[in-house]
Amino acid sequence: MSENLKNQVKAFYSIILFFRDLIMTDKDNEVPNQEKRKFLKLLGLSIGALSLGSLSAERFFVPTTRNKPVMSSYPKAILTDTSGTPITVSQIPYANTDTSSYPIMVFNYPLQDEPNILVRLRGIKIPGGVGPNGDITAYSGICQHLGCVVPLVSYNPAKNIPFEAQLIGYNSSNWPTYGLLYCKCHGSQYDPTRGPHNLYNSGPAPSPANHSLPQVLLETDSEGHIYAVGMNPVNAVIRGHLWQPNGETYGSEVEEEDLSGGTPLPLYDVTNNIYRATIVSSSNGPWPGNYY
Ligand code: FES
Repeated sequence: MSENLKNQVKAFYSIILFFRDLIMTDKDNEVPNQEKRKFLKLLGLSIGALSLGSLSAERFFVPTTRNKPVMSSYPKAILTDTSGTPITVSQIPYANTDTSSYPIMVFNYPLQDEPNILVRLRGIKIPGGVGPNGDITAYSGICQHLGCVVPLVSYNPAKNIPFEAQLIGYNSSNWPTYGLLYCKCHGSQYDPTRGPHNLYNSGPAPSPANHSLPQVLLETDSEGHIYAVGMNPVNAVIRGHLWQPNGETYGSEVEEEDLSGGTPLPLYDVTNNIYRATIVSSSNGPWPGNYY
């Protein structure tokens, strides 16, 4: 046996003896030595604190919003129905405090495979919202926890609490008035009334996630058409988007996204360089304009 190995075995053995000694009771009265007891208690507490600390440490390192504009220019895309006809503000249904189902209106932006959920909340002026009352907005349909997408991420209005959310304690008395964008994968929750700072209840288990859903910047024109023009720079990183070309990055490294590696949206208007973001199917009911 080499000297080195011998020393390692010796060290290991002394650790075993040390802990055996701590745990053993005093021979005289069979009651554990008080000092040892205290030490063991402290040791237990320290290990517990360390474990909890390491579990939640990420919360301190990863901000809930990123505050970094990550692209200087996004495509401008008009929202259309599947036949290519632009939709208007008046076609978007409202959710209100009594809503029990709401069509999931999904469009891809800024790339073809990046779904966003369009919502309109009656009586709520949403930060970053558009329309006459500022009540229309769209959020990325890519969960910021581990990247699940619609329909696993969906808008669940006031009277429609997903079964999975009920399992973690939500009921009619604590489900928010306008419901939540909820991810069925691990229970991340996002409040649609809040605009870019929409993370609700700190999200699920500690993870690099715990970010709000990126909010799509929308604009309307005099005819009520709706355009996606960018991502709100308050929280613009789309999870999964930054894997190319330079790998996943967070925080200060994130300065500029590169859309060149993805599939661009189809062009709608070549002259004005406007793209098309099509509202695609909805899984929970018809939407005026032929969507199911
Ligand atoms: Fe959505 Fe985990 S991926 S909660």
